[in-house]
This record gives sequence, structure tokens and C-alpha cells, in this order.
Amino acid sequence: MSVSALVFAAFVLLVTYIYYWSTRKFDYWKRKNVPYAKPVPFFGNYMRYITLQSYIGDVTQKLCQQFPDRPYFGSFYGTEPALVLQNPEIIKQVFTKDFYYFNSRDNSDYNHKEVVTQNLFFANGDKWKVVRQNLTPLFSSLKMKNMFYLVEKCNHSLEDMLDKEIKDLQIIEIRSAMIRYTLDSICSSAFGIESNTLREGGENSPFANMGSIVFSSSITRGLKWISRSMWPGIFYKLGLQCFPAEIDGFFERVLTQVFENRGYKPTNRNDFVDLILSLKQNDYLTGDGLVPKNVDAKKVTVKVDDALLIAQCVVFFGAGFETSASTLSAALYELAKNPEAQRRAQEEVDELLLKHNNKLNYDCLAELPYLEACMNEAMRLYPVLPNITREAVADYTFPDGLRIEKGMRVHVPVYAIHRNPDNFPDPEEFRPERHLGDAKNDIKQFTFFPFGEGPRICIGMRFGKMQTIAGMVTCLKKYNFELADGMSKTVPFRSTTVLTQPSTGLFLKATPRDGWKQRIFAR
Ligand code: HEM
Repeated sequence: MSVSALVFAAFVLLVTYIYYWSTRKFDYWKRKNVPYAKPVPFFGNYMRYITLQSYIGDVTQKLCQQFPDRPYFGSFYGTEPALVLQNPEIIKQVFTKDFYYFNSRDNSDYNHKEVVTQNLFFANGDKWKVVRQNLTPLFSSLKMKNMFYLVEKCNHSLEDMLDKEIKDLQIIEIRSAMIRYTLDSICSSAFGIESNTLREGGENSPFANMGSIVFSSSITRGLKWISRSMWPGIFYKLGLQCFPAEIDGFFERVLTQVFENRGYKPTNRNDFVDLILSLKQNDYLTGDGLVPKNVDAKKVTVKVDDALLIAQCVVFFGAGFETSASTLSAALYELAKNPEAQRRAQEEVDELLLKHNNKLNYDCLAELPYLEACMNEAMRLYPVLPNITREAVADYTFPDGLRIEKGMRVHVPVYAIHRNPDNFPDPEEFRPERHLGDAKNDIKQFTFFPFGEGPRICIGMRFGKMQTIAGMVTCLKKYNFELADGMSKTVPFRSTTVLTQPSTGLFLKATPRDGWKQRIFAR
């Protein structure tokens, strides 16, 4: 046989093997008698996402639209079967009632492979439970109240920054401006650090730089995310990492510096670093293990080491700024398109500031129901996580008899559910009124979950809401917003990230409102 014939035969063998390997599970849903979307070799039902052409929320929404009346359907996430849930009762079952079986997000066997993936967001089982129990006290209402003076100070800096940035051009790219604000807020409240991101040139500060590394949405990063989430075994065998090592190094240095400044002892700031310092006093964290219903929990321990602590810092930093900045900028963008809603929000803000002598406090944020409704509506349309994933940690049988095996991926398509007309009529329209009064009670349970649901619901929800609403007050008290010339009324989302992020800047024209001088913050 000639060399070229040999090469050709090897090539055919390789293609045949890849075809076999990539389609070997494609009869899974048929065997289970579950309706499913027809997959294509290697890409399953997610070709446009895997090839970075479409945002994951859009891809999943299109799949859901093929099965409008089904409580769930089967899909193929690349080569791997994944069950997509649509029915609120079943979602409740997975998120809360049978949480034990679905306590993991996904790829639980691989989370120890990187420092960053050892954080609470990625953890599962006993480790997740113990870490969550130990971190939860940091986010109580009382802690938020005690921390609010730090967020308030950041809002003073935001007030100054907007004045400077808007004065010359009147045009502001609101997403990057809000990232600077939430970075400042999280660095100050969580780490006790002045990040200076709201000062002139703050967009180039080390924290802003780290923020863009953690959430970089380059093509390479996008491909890494996708391959890790679909084929983690191969991903780590190839020696790849999702998060650059410089992230661990940066936070290690930051924390060491803060620890030194505090003499390695908790202070009375009561912030995240204090909690980390108190955890560091012990070699082990103790808490209840994770057990199925009706089984008594045993106490379990988790070893405290620097990697564990750094990983929690990274998630608080990353989740703390990106999510709120996305929500804030989406809300302001939608208000810019909806002048009537903006006027109503501003009236509420003006009344509040008049009542409280231009000084914000934690409790007064609860006196802004319309603003809160605007935030909720922004999160309905732009949920930070368009798909929430869970993984069965043991074989499980659904109430209708469907049995899935340990390791099965279960996806809750938040974006599709939030934009389903059966759940929210005229779903593309921004209508804050959906979240007010009686209408709010009409929202079906488990059809609106911008913060997730069940025991894994966002741990930072109170903090996120606090800084988002405070930021909205600061922007709306002084400015009227409208879309800048050329800014589109709909924005496409990035295809290179698992988050909901606009793929273009959100440019708004901001003009000072009449009477703004009467609403300057009292400092
Ligand atoms: C508007 C702001 C925010 C939104 C929309 C948001 C959204 C979410 C969502 C959807 C989840 C997944 C929940 C689930 O799987 O059921 C989550 C988890 C999480 N969030 Fe947030 N988040 C926000 C702010 C924050 C803040 C400020 C922090 C920390 C300072 C934070 C830290 C976390 C952590 C650590 C988890 C993992 C919790 C666990 O798995 O136990 N988030 N968030």
C-alpha cells in the first residue's frame, strides 16, 4: 500500500471514530421515551453556541420553542445528554424538594482542578454545604445595614464621576460606568480596599484590570468554557485551565496585604476579610453534611487552606461586581427607552431624597417599590445566568417515572422561561408593573428566578439588590437618560460567555434634570 493510501485510510478511521464517539449517546432520550431535539454529530443541539455564533440563551430558547407544551425535553449538550426543564413544578422539585439529588452544578468531579473552581459557586456536596453555612452570616440584613455606609460612600464617588464624565460629552457608555461603580463598592465592602475605579483613569486600575481578566469573553476563553463544560475530562487531560493563574496570584497578594494591615486579627469592620480572618484562625470549618430528606445530618469538616479562602474571595469579587453592573446598566438602558417608566422612577427617587434630606440609608431602599420593580423587570429580560445548571449526584426518579442516572446534566433555561409569553404576556416589553401589587402575586412560582432558587439561591442577593438600587437612585436623581444617536433599541448578546452580556456598548445620552441641585447627596 502506498503512503498516501495509508494516510487516507488513517484519516477515514479517525473520522469514523470521531463520528462514532460523538454520536454514541444520541439514542439516550429515545431509549427513555423522552421527546428530544434531533442532534448533529459532535455539536448535538448547540452547534451555534459551540461555534461561538449565538448566545446560549437564544439557542436554548429556540430549543424550548420546539416543545412548547412539554414539562421537559431531552437535548444533547455537544455529545452529552442534558434534560431541559420547563414545567414550574418539576423545576421546584429539582431546585428545592429533592435538592439533595441535584446539589451540584455540573462537572463536580473536576472542580478541584483549579484554585478558582474551588469556590462556593462551583462546589458541591458536603464541602458546598459547610462553606455555605460558614459564609451565610456575612450576608444577613444586619450585616448589610452595617456595611451600607461603605456603599453610600461609593455612591458619592459615583455622583462625582458621573458629573465629570457626562459634563463634556453628555454621552456615557453605561455598562462600563456601572462596572466601575460596582467594582468600587465590592472592593470597599468586601475587602476594605479603596479600588479608585471611580477616580479619573480608574478604568485602568489594577482591580478594573482584574475584573476584565476574570470575565474576559475572548474567543479563546469562550472556547475554553465550552470545552470544559462539555468535555471536562479531555479538557484537563490536555493540561488546560479556564481561569488564568494570575487571578490566584493577584488575590493572594491582595489578601496578604489586607491581613497584614489588620495584624491577622478580625477588626470591627465586619466585612468579608474579617470573616475570612476568623475562618483562618481554625484549621477546619465545621458544619452539617448534606443528606437526603428524613436522614439525620452528621457534622462534617472541611480543611481551611489558602486556596480555599482565595477561591471564595475571587467569587465574591467576580459575582459581586459583574452581576450588579449588568443589572444596573440593563435597567438604565430600558428606562432610557421607556420615558414614562423613567419619569415614575424619578418621582419616587425625588420623594425619597426629600423625605431623607438627601441621605441614603439601608432601610430607605425598601421605600422604592417602583425602582425595585424596574430592577426586577431588567433581570427578567436580562437574567445574569441565562441557563442555571444542576447535575444529578445519584440516580433519580421523577414523580412521572422518568429515571435519570448519576451525572446527568439538568438545565433550567431561565432566559427562555422569563421570555415565554405563557409566563409573561408580551414578554419582550419592559413593564415594571408586572412586579407591583396584585400583578406581582400573579407571577407563577418558579417562572421568575433571576437569583436562582432553593438552597443554592444567590448568597449575595441582598448585597446585589442593595448596590443596584442605590446606584439607580444616584443616576436617576440627576439625569434624564435617552438612547444616544445610533444606539439600537435591541441589543444582541455575546456568544463567547455563559453570562448575559450585551455584545455592544450601551450608549446613553444623559442630560441634567431640572432641580438636580436640590438633590445633591448630603455627605
Ligand atoms: C444583581 C446581582 C446578582 C444576581 C442577578 C446574581 C445571580 C446569581 C445566580 C442566578 C446564581 C445561581 C443560583 C442558583 O444556582 O440557583 C448566583 C449564585 C451566587 N452568587 Fe449571585 N447574583 C448577584 C449578586 C451577587 C453578589 C453581590 C455576590 C457576592 C458578593 C454573589 C455571589 C454569589 C455566589 C457565591 C453564588 C453561588 C451560591 C451557591 O452556589 O451556593 N452574587 N447568583
